[in-house]
Amino acid sequence: MPLFTGRKVALLGTGLFLPEKLLTNDDLSKMVETSDAWIRERTGIKVRHIADDGQLTSELAACAAQNALASAGIGADAVDMILVGTNSPDTIFPGVGPKVQAVLGASRAGACDVQAGCTGSVYALAMAVSGISSGLWRHVLVIGAEVLSPLLDWEDRNTCVLFGDGASAFLLGPAPEDKRGFIAADVRAEGEFHDLISFPAGLVERPASSETVAAREHYVKMKGNDVFKFVNRKLPPFLKSFLVESNLKPADVTNWIFHQANLRIIEGVLRRLDVDPAKAYVNLDHLGNTSAASVFIALHEAMEQGVLKGGDLVVMTSFGAGMTYGAIAFEL
Ligand code: COA
Repeated sequence: MPLFTGRKVALLGTGLFLPEKLLTNDDLSKMVETSDAWIRERTGIKVRHIADDGQLTSELAACAAQNALASAGIGADAVDMILVGTNSPDTIFPGVGPKVQAVLGASRAGACDVQAGCTGSVYALAMAVSGISSGLWRHVLVIGAEVLSPLLDWEDRNTCVLFGDGASAFLLGPAPEDKRGFIAADVRAEGEFHDLISFPAGLVERPASSETVAAREHYVKMKGNDVFKFVNRKLPPFLKSFLVESNLKPADVTNWIFHQANLRIIEGVLRRLDVDPAKAYVNLDHLGNTSAASVFIALHEAMEQGVLKGGDLVVMTSFGAGMTYGAIAFEL
């Protein structure tokens, strides 16, 4: 059973940070052979935020974290752990987590990154809840942060039109008496599909060389249509059984926070679950796919806009490189 037991855990605050620069579909159509109509019809994306040259994932993550702490009214010295879901760390080591810890001055906190494709933030959230629920930690900052733009091949229309940069952070802690908080989580991996989304070169398997640079292997590669089919095949039965094992019915769920990769995926999966697609909060039109940051940004925005409020039941679900996927259910 995927249920959390032990101490109840609640979301105490959320924070957002987006780089200012915007890149529209029309801008992209001047860079690669694409069009606003193609991108909107096939994905739902209209515009995305892109970091400035030199603006790092750790900077976005730290700003989002500061906003989450302020929204929770909790000081950095009360944070026990910082977990960062990211696929675009400033460097492979040190990780983003320790840099954020230093910026915040979170003197008692451990810090590390969770790299699990776009599902990384859902993995990190499940770990954070488990750590608080068990009594190991009291307050945990969980961050989804990406600056994927320098890792994209701006000559490859199959990938460069899809992604955007951004960060969002959650502060978790013990739940007040009257709150149910986090209910259940299930995270999965199917590594046999590891070649669907990859970053081929620059590490152990393909160390950087003039050949890897010439072959443009230091960029995100994706078999987009295969990913599309994988997700549409795997997610509906997975989410159905997740609800059953979490003792939840589809009607109990106020809102679905999906990974913001493609509007057709969100609507298609919900239709297969017999759920009204209007029950999904969608922001990919103005953000694109912000990878591990996407579900956190979506929840933050939905709360800020009053789409979600205290007492609402949310299922957050994501999928990504690995292939990984997962879901987590909680009451706000
Ligand atoms: N502009 C115009 N044409 C494009 C294009 C673009 N940006 N990108 C691809 N195409 C073309 C292809 O070359 C292909 O042309 P062809 O028929 O002449 O070969 C055609 O459009 C269809 O390509 P295909 O890949 O089959 O399109 P699709 O309907 O599967 O849509 C994605 C492509 C990437 C939008 C879609 O597959 C998708 O969203 N997949 C999931 C990706 C995802 O979720 N990734 C994140 C995981 S974290």
